[in-house]
Amino acid sequence: MKKNDTGFIIEGKGAYLHIIFYGENIVRFAYSKDKNVPSSTVAVVGKPVEAGESFKSNRLLAGNFQIEVEREKLTVKVFDRSGRLLNEDLKVNAKKPGVEKKRLSETGFYGNGEKYTWLNQLGYSTVNYNSDVLHHNPIHHPQVQEMHTAIPFYIGASPDFAYGIYFDNSYRTEFDFAKSDSNVISFQAAGGYLDYYFMHGSTVADVVSAYGLLTGTPPLPRKKYLGFHQSRYSYQSGEELLTVADQLRRHDIPCDVLYLDIDYTEAYKVFTVDNERFKGFKKMIGNLKEMGFAVVVIINPGVKVEEGYRVYEEGKENNYFVTTPSGEIYQGEVWPKPAAFPDFLRSEVRHWWGELHRELLACGVDGIWNDMNEPANFTEKSGTLPDEAVHLGDNGIVFSHAEAHNIYGLMQARATREALEQLQPEKRPFVLTRAAFAGSQRYAALWTGDNSSVWEHLECSIPMILNLGLSGYSFVGADVGGYRGDCSGELLVRWTQLGAFIPYFRNHSEIGTARQEPWEFSNEVLDIVRKYIRLRYNFLTYIYNLMRESTLTGAPAVRPLLYHYDDEPDAYHISDQFLLGEGLMVCPVTRPGITHRQVYLPRGQWFDYWTGENLNGNRYLTVESPLGKLPLFIRAGTILPIDDHIYSDHNRGAQTALTMHCYAGKDGLYRLYLDDGTSFNYRQEQYSELEIILKDDPVQPAVKTNIIKDNFPIPEIKYIIHHRPGQ
Ligand code: GLC
Repeated sequence: MKKNDTGFIIEGKGAYLHIIFYGENIVRFAYSKDKNVPSSTVAVVGKPVEAGESFKSNRLLAGNFQIEVEREKLTVKVFDRSGRLLNEDLKVNAKKPGVEKKRLSETGFYGNGEKYTWLNQLGYSTVNYNSDVLHHNPIHHPQVQEMHTAIPFYIGASPDFAYGIYFDNSYRTEFDFAKSDSNVISFQAAGGYLDYYFMHGSTVADVVSAYGLLTGTPPLPRKKYLGFHQSRYSYQSGEELLTVADQLRRHDIPCDVLYLDIDYTEAYKVFTVDNERFKGFKKMIGNLKEMGFAVVVIINPGVKVEEGYRVYEEGKENNYFVTTPSGEIYQGEVWPKPAAFPDFLRSEVRHWWGELHRELLACGVDGIWNDMNEPANFTEKSGTLPDEAVHLGDNGIVFSHAEAHNIYGLMQARATREALEQLQPEKRPFVLTRAAFAGSQRYAALWTGDNSSVWEHLECSIPMILNLGLSGYSFVGADVGGYRGDCSGELLVRWTQLGAFIPYFRNHSEIGTARQEPWEFSNEVLDIVRKYIRLRYNFLTYIYNLMRESTLTGAPAVRPLLYHYDDEPDAYHISDQFLLGEGLMVCPVTRPGITHRQVYLPRGQWFDYWTGENLNGNRYLTVESPLGKLPLFIRAGTILPIDDHIYSDHNRGAQTALTMHCYAGKDGLYRLYLDDGTSFNYRQEQYSELEIILKDDPVQPAVKTNIIKDNFPIPEIKYIIHHRPGQ
């Protein structure tokens, strides 16, 4: 083992292993055929560090690790500083990049981005290859492994230890979590290098935060975008969109964002507007803005191949499109029929694409939705571009589509975000993407694509979103009510109850399906849906603060129980309830006709959010859950900021005050962050931060507030202490 500029290098039989540290708890193992370290993908933003190494017998001691390497085979054993074994290779293949690892005492595997699995993926195998899922399948189901995202990152955990592995390889990757052999974990790629990062922490939360350090954390969203979004494929005209806006206001349903799906364009040509159906586009958007709505429009990557169409002509003239191996523009088919695909891997192409947004933004468009960016292509059996299609990166570097495929969507989202930052510097950009790779969280929010209006998809969206959260994605959600098929009133109620506690909250449905806006069902449905959308607005400051935490540490807003209770075995499996932040337990109903459900409360004391009843944890209980009720529980010691609103003016509900709800029974601490919710002024310290301290006492619990920073106006704050019975 030799030290060099980048770290350590070991020459094995026919391959080299590079060991490089990216932090005390992050170590990279990269295998190559020669002495050069393989290039990282765009996912990695962490930088190598000096890890203060020493050697003890045959072990390298550096950072918080001890590492042992088998000289010829280059298999690795990783230990923590105390000598506890964390990871052990059985077989390494540097040529056909892959590794088999011994399963130690892990009881659960998590992460892997968007997957149709239960929370714990032990016993599953999966494939990461961005896919327009419906191209191959009539509906998402557990056997569908290739989903819209490819995030080759997993966490292995048990009550004894936790670690993460990020396989930095953008080719199609396959993972097996003790499915083929209950003692073996393996992963491999269709090309590229065996190049992965091992992260260790004392908790799953530490591992997630190490992953955030390595691949970046999500930017702070605009607070407005944490509100309710209403969409449909498609609102077909300006009048229709204005009617929806009007209905939302008339029904007193708070809503901040409306969407224009593909039909606002002329013949599905990106960066055009159908001026017949959307006459006075700019004025319409202005009217909606006055009513308090932001308008988001869809921009797909596929550019219609049509002579005289500006976007196509410019792209053709400048060689901005993906080509065939013989150098012609690769032509596929998406909504506009014949389509060419911009080569987002090159900065000049991203810049050109970014500039194309200028006119839409000048019309008042506020956010951009990038869809079909796996990329979807209807002409190939694979549903995407052929492996041998050619991309050209910066500095003349050539990539086959096989290598570029999984990062294509990330690069489109990057082009979009960078454009919005430049063209609307006063507002934090909103970009929504369907396809993603590790690191996409730096550029866009994500929704889980084309689900269906079936109870199974409501149910599976919970572990899917939880695993996305553990994979770096905090600003994420599923189409509320389901996209494909007809939603029933009952399903919409239950899905809205769940959606109200998920960061990205949008009702969206497919063309040709039953209308799914909240007023399309009975009055009872309307009343309950309205109640829960309003409840969401009571939690806006709380959710906004969680999103700030995501920005700072990579912690997801929505967390599986094991995130905070990793010493409780049940927490490793529960897929049908979750924590929003640390102290709020959300227990959605995911089946029709259910009036009771089972809830697990971890150790400690809890409050029923609705009744204030005090409950002891560390047990299962059966709770009532009639249609109008989403069971919610608050852990003792929690401090919840609740926004107070008035809805009388048919407007979104202006915030009047903030009430800190303090749940006694345990000491508590909450840091409240406040800023304008829109601009980047917080980067110039234009924000306030308060520390609220709850001191528990059986007779008289007390609350104290310290102002840490007051560079932004602090609203009126009320305090309510929720006592335990007998207090
Ligand atoms: C894709 C999207 C869906 C959208 C539709 C039409 O299927 O996933 O959300 O409505 O395309 O643009």
